Amino acid sequence: MSLELVHTIAQTRALVAEARRRGRTIEFVPTMGALHEGHGSLMDLARRPQGFLVVSIFVNPIQFDRADDYERYPRTLESDVEFCQARGVDLVFAPAIEEMYPQPQRAFVEVTGLTEHLCGRFRPGHFRGVTTVVAKLFGIVQPDRAYFGEKDAQQLAVVRRMVRDLNMPVQIVAGPTVREPDGLAMSSRNRRLTPEERRAAPAIYRALQAAAAVVAAGAGGTVEVRRAALAVLESEPLLRIEYLEIVDPDEIQPVAEIDREVLIACAVWAGNTRLIDSVRARPPHAA
Ligand code: PAF
Repeated sequence: MSLELVHTIAQTRALVAEARRRGRTIEFVPTMGALHEGHGSLMDLARRPQGFLVVSIFVNPIQFDRADDYERYPRTLESDVEFCQARGVDLVFAPAIEEMYPQPQRAFVEVTGLTEHLCGRFRPGHFRGVTTVVAKLFGIVQPDRAYFGEKDAQQLAVVRRMVRDLNMPVQIVAGPTVREPDGLAMSSRNRRLTPEERRAAPAIYRALQAAAAVVAAGAGGTVEVRRAALAVLESEPLLRIEYLEIVDPDEIQPVAEIDREVLIACAVWAGNTRLIDSVRARPPHAA
């Protein structure tokens, strides 16, 4: 069957209801467009024999903390729809802002605690915007399963917690980070990098790997692990570190001691482009 592109909530609900009547499960990949292989791998994970695969494409204004970032966010609907078509997507929901926010939004969904560190510390209101739009999208699409990338590790933890704490009837499925051959995590923002910044950017993953190696060898505490990553990042003059933290992967709280699996996460600026990445690492003999 060929892909349907719709722009309204009513059309989306009608097509999803029809698919359910035909006995299909609803599989959902929410996106902001500018699709790349990272999204493609989530779509591959979400394509199931009896599944009806829905992708949303919506650049959500309330999750941007800076107006220029929102304005510069790549918008490539035509090629995104072709990408979805090639990936076997059944329905693309691409609403206008007025469809999602017909009047000022007064109801918000907020996950506390998990949003205090990492990106939450530097992007005020960002996660409230994410959880609010994801809750709205879940209300519209009513999926059985929704798919999120591990690249946005804090977002994944926050969405999982929202679903659990609010008893939302949807299963969250995580897809592994997809990387370029040189290790750079795929991101819609990569296309904004200058050639020089693009050449510098793989140092981010190399730094995280250096830190993970210290954890895996049991060769130090948080100070040594951070030092290993910073040594790599600081050798790249085009990169500016916003944060580099070692946190508990579920609660997203900094750890004092590395005695179990941790998430090593960073945000780094390359010129005007902010890139995030993270890896999990486990010390030897961890529970
Ligand atoms: O990860 C993203 O692209 C966005 O934060 C999401 C989940 C689609 C919400 O706007």
